[in-house]
Amino acid sequence: MNIILATHNRGKIEEFKRILLDYPVNLSSVFDYGITLEPEETGVTFSENAQIKLDYYLKIIKKNKLHDNSNKNLLIAEDSGIEIEALNGEPGILSARYGGEGLNSMDRNDLVLKNMQGVASKNRKARFVCCIKVVDIEIDFKYEFIGYSEGMIMDNIYGSKGFGYDPIFKPLGYNVSMASLQPEVKDKISHRGLATRKLIKELLDAR
Ligand code: IMP
Repeated sequence: MNIILATHNRGKIEEFKRILLDYPVNLSSVFDYGITLEPEETGVTFSENAQIKLDYYLKIIKKNKLHDNSNKNLLIAEDSGIEIEALNGEPGILSARYGGEGLNSMDRNDLVLKNMQGVASKNRKARFVCCIKVVDIEIDFKYEFIGYSEGMIMDNIYGSKGFGYDPIFKPLGYNVSMASLQPEVKDKISHRGLATRKLIKELLDAR
């Protein structure tokens, strides 16, 4: 089975590769097909944005006949982000763009910490959300899987692994940031790991 990841985010690609390592799949991303364009994320939910990405890349792949017809081909699109209770659910679907286009991940972490200054520990709840949409390229059959990872926003930046908001997020049941955990531990508890394992279970059960 071939799986094409509809993303240009290196952090996500690396995680999908690790999570799917033990499964019989050939994994590639839109990078490998020379596709550099990205759709505008105009949806108002994770699900809508994942659907926009799925439809956008599906059209390009079909139009240019990029997939290998001799095998089953799945296209996977993912939209994810962090919802922070004290910020009324922000950054949410705007996680990649929080604070504006000119910022990098560390600037965004600093901005969250600044906006959370003075918020007591008990009110620092947050969760990562991952919505995965999958389509079988030949038969247009679509599925959706959602994963959540609960935790809280820390008081500072800790750790250097992972990507995005990992350095300021402390997962429930751990005393360190997501960016301090070994990657395999993150995969076990992450929103992406959970949603991907739901997807794999569905695929294996359907065989
Ligand atoms: P998307 O490309 O619109 O789905 O952007 C998702 C954004 O959410 C990323 O750019 C990160 O800022 C954030 N994000 C999603 N998943 C993670 C994660 O596993 N760790 C840290 N940040 C994440």
